[in-house]
Amino acid sequence: MLAILGAMEEEVALLRGEMQVTQESVHAGINVIRGDFKGTPIALAQCGIGKVNATICTQMLVDLYQPEGMIFSGVAGGLLPNMQVGDIVVASHLIQFDIDLTAFGRRHGELPDSDRMIQSDANMVSQTADCFDAVFEGEADAPNLMIGTVVSGDKFIEDSETLRWLQREFGALATEMEGAAVGYTCQLNEVPFIIIRGLSDTANESAPDDFKSNLHTVCKHSFRLMERLIPTAGESLSAAEASAPQQVAASA
Ligand code: ADE
Repeated sequence: MLAILGAMEEEVALLRGEMQVTQESVHAGINVIRGDFKGTPIALAQCGIGKVNATICTQMLVDLYQPEGMIFSGVAGGLLPNMQVGDIVVASHLIQFDIDLTAFGRRHGELPDSDRMIQSDANMVSQTADCFDAVFEGEADAPNLMIGTVVSGDKFIEDSETLRWLQREFGALATEMEGAAVGYTCQLNEVPFIIIRGLSDTANESAPDDFKSNLHTVCKHSFRLMERLIPTAGESLSAAEASAPQQVAASA
């Protein structure tokens, strides 16, 4: 089974609309919808905004549903000058940009005993790129796909100075508020994950207005990619699970 997350209602609504729902439940105040999405069993949750909400939701999904993999789909602010609203960024790596232990000589985003880069599942990244090609190739006005580092922090970025800092300090393509938290939690639980972000704005002074006017259209783009990716990723993760050696319970 795949777990699918979004932070906001708009980021999960189109997926929910295509599901055959079998069960709805609420855990830690989060609504989880189980059912089939085009033949693939999924658990869909709207986690809420920010890294704390994303962490609680991810851990809850792992504990209660034991997903074979997790996909987060949502929007982000683009950090490179030539990016267009609607372009899609897939995170190969994520960093929590607001972790700051520089007082102890560490780099921004770095915690003791762990790399500041949280790595997405490489198979899921390449499957997402293949699905993107299959969905958008040859289409006039198709969005661009970019794969690289995404940064996450508990702040909506709306100024050119901060966006430049995020780009230069972390080599990041996009900024958002949940991905690194989902990724970190998945990494600790050894659950393969991918974070996919449609660009709603370019994190500059017009970002709040751009975000509001573009949210719905950008979610439609991402939905087209997700429609293709969910069955592909679901099938490949269940095949991997079926062929994995069974864990033998340790005897006392
Ligand atoms: N999500 C979408 N746009 C964003 C921005 N500019 N900053 C943080 N999160 C975002």
